Amino acid sequence: MQFEIVDHPAPRSAEQIKSILADPGFGTNFSDHTAVIDWTEQRGWHHARVEPYGPIALDPAASVLHYSQEVFEGMKAYLHSDGSIYTFRPEANAARLNKSARRMALPELDEQLFIASLEQLVRADKAWVPGGEGEALYLRPFMFATEAFLGVRAAKEVTYRVIASPAGNYFGGELKPVRIWVSRDYVRAAPGGTGEAKTGGNYAGSLIAQQQAAEHGCQQVLFLDPLHENAVEELGGMNVFLVTNDGRLLTPELTGTILEGITRSSVIQLAKDRGLTVEERRITLDEWDRGVRSGEITEAFACGTAAVITPIGELVDGDHRIASTGTGEVTQSLRDELLGIQTGTVEDRHGWLHRL
Ligand code: PLP
Ligand code: COI
Repeated sequence: MQFEIVDHPAPRSAEQIKSILADPGFGTNFSDHTAVIDWTEQRGWHHARVEPYGPIALDPAASVLHYSQEVFEGMKAYLHSDGSIYTFRPEANAARLNKSARRMALPELDEQLFIASLEQLVRADKAWVPGGEGEALYLRPFMFATEAFLGVRAAKEVTYRVIASPAGNYFGGELKPVRIWVSRDYVRAAPGGTGEAKTGGNYAGSLIAQQQAAEHGCQQVLFLDPLHENAVEELGGMNVFLVTNDGRLLTPELTGTILEGITRSSVIQLAKDRGLTVEERRITLDEWDRGVRSGEITEAFACGTAAVITPIGELVDGDHRIASTGTGEVTQSLRDELLGIQTGTVEDRHGWLHRL
């Protein structure tokens, strides 16, 4: 399918882009274009285009607004020193988008078309890719039900879009260890639910817990397994790892209730490449607490596309605190290696990069 290019009436000037890229923050500025592909039950995917970024008209009865039939992805475009631009493991995002789409009764999008949508958008907005340490152009592909119909069933009209947003550190400012709030009042997902899908409702349901976290001076929420007491699942928008003093990496296993992070699977691979043992299994807060106190657990970190690899400084569980060691050596070196691969300064030995 060919993308039609609908030019921007007034793209921002080089000066304006430069001033945005000087301090990109996270998720507040958007590039000049958006890639769009429409779908109807009758025609399938059609009318691929790159058009000016801006508000979209949606029927007030569009089912996404009522029943949240929506899925999304998060990925990044990285600037290399020769000016070329790459993204990271886009086939994995395509596969996860389709897995989420199946769960939410949305149509699947061909991997080639998904990758073409990224290529076309980044080609139009290549001036928007920042190049500072830990910076990238965050790409947000998403798909939602546009059909105007209030009956509860899968929509017959859907739109897929990609928007792009220059991004620095997700938590703002310089990289430093984050404080995490343990959610005791709210769970994120349960077996058979939508926890494994990247769908807006999971995030909507996490916001009240995120508010509690903020009230307690924490930047993220840790959700627990609703079935197994004190078992760690994941953060509101990131997976979790612990590092032990004998060279093991521990991370909650994929039980269908957590998101299978592409950063998570990359970290597992990089750790195995170094000869570290990776244990994907149930981890309880008690094990975490005891391990930190005994010195067996030496580091904890969060990981995800937005967060990259961010050290966890402290876990706040009501009145109880589980301290950690700050930015540990393993955390820092895995972060450096991952970012190095993504930005072209470390050899891409697994063929993870895709030129845009
Ligand atoms: N878990 C949740 C709930 C997320 O939102 C994310 C971010 O996308 C992740 C984990 C990490 O996934 P990835 O590494 O693919 O970005
Ligand atoms: C991502 O890392 O891409 C996410 O979707 C998580 C969110 C915290 C922005």
